[in-house]
Amino acid sequence: MAQRDILIVDDDRQVREVLHQIFMSAGYNCLLANDGREAVEVFRAGRPPLIVTDLKMPVMTGIELLQQVRALDGDVAVIVLTGATDVKTAIESLKLGAYDFIMKPVNVDELLIAADRAFERRQLLIERREYHELLERRVVEATRDLASAYRQLQETYHATLEALGSALDTRDVGTEAHSRRVHGYALATAREHRVPEADLIDLAHGVLLHDIGKIGIPDAILLKRGPLTPEEWQIMRRHPEIGKALIEKIPFLRGAVPIVFSHHEKWDGTGYPRGLRGEDIPLGARIFMIVDAFDAMTFDRPYSTAKPFDVAKAEIKRCAGTHFDPAVVESFFRVPEPLLAEIRRRSLEP
Ligand SMILES: [Fe+2]
Repeated sequence: MAQRDILIVDDDRQVREVLHQIFMSAGYNCLLANDGREAVEVFRAGRPPLIVTDLKMPVMTGIELLQQVRALDGDVAVIVLTGATDVKTAIESLKLGAYDFIMKPVNVDELLIAADRAFERRQLLIERREYHELLERRVVEATRDLASAYRQLQETYHATLEALGSALDTRDVGTEAHSRRVHGYALATAREHRVPEADLIDLAHGVLLHDIGKIGIPDAILLKRGPLTPEEWQIMRRHPEIGKALIEKIPFLRGAVPIVFSHHEKWDGTGYPRGLRGEDIPLGARIFMIVDAFDAMTFDRPYSTAKPFDVAKAEIKRCAGTHFDPAVVESFFRVPEPLLAEIRRRSLEP
């Protein structure tokens, strides 16, 4: 059984006593107040769940009392007592949140039924609110679970990407260290070029996967020692399209498509597969071209020895406006050399 405290408020001592008797006989634990202000004090101290109050009282009317206690506790049940002349005020009190009104002179049965109903209704309202709160908590928990599942999925994707990248590395002349360096140089250049942070993840994916289409190139061509024939070149040059077709079906990787598809386009329109020109070439691809060339020149490869940074930079400057976007070249040159050296050093760590 819920707490059966009741606060009786009436300025008429006789009425108060009668109400006290009625409720006490019905098993309620009664608190008494002879005006609104006193009632607020008693309510603050004991928080009875039910108040039965007269409307017309000195110091504070029943309506004011109703407003004050409901401000303190929205769950409090209030029943007002009203004379026949004051029905309008009683109806007003219902609008302000009173549960019920009882006409004077009071009928005992009617009063006790009203009190019981008020308790029940209050209980239902509390349970309904608690149920809603529970639902809300569940939603918060479910959202949190979803966020963690999404994070896991992202991690899985990332691992998949790295696996795809290294699968490529084992087939091609490139290495994982090369991927790491180009990735690092590309991000540093993108930041100098004020590429929004939100776009960097697509850039990273694109850099890592730029040659993914080589999976579709036969070994005899991909791993051929010595120069390719024109027909073999034709096949080799299909790798951007193959790569695009591979990853554009994966929503998470769709942002990498522009780099994968356009990483052999040149600023002056002499690249492939589409012969795009200038800023028609996606920015990520323009960044990639420069840092990939830089790494190719500054790192030993089977067919060439490494050039110093400044020699490689001079070569890149020479090709600004033909192969490379001059503005991105400027951004790349703003990347501090110690940072380039650090990226290079870290790429060789196990
Ligand atoms: Fe390529």
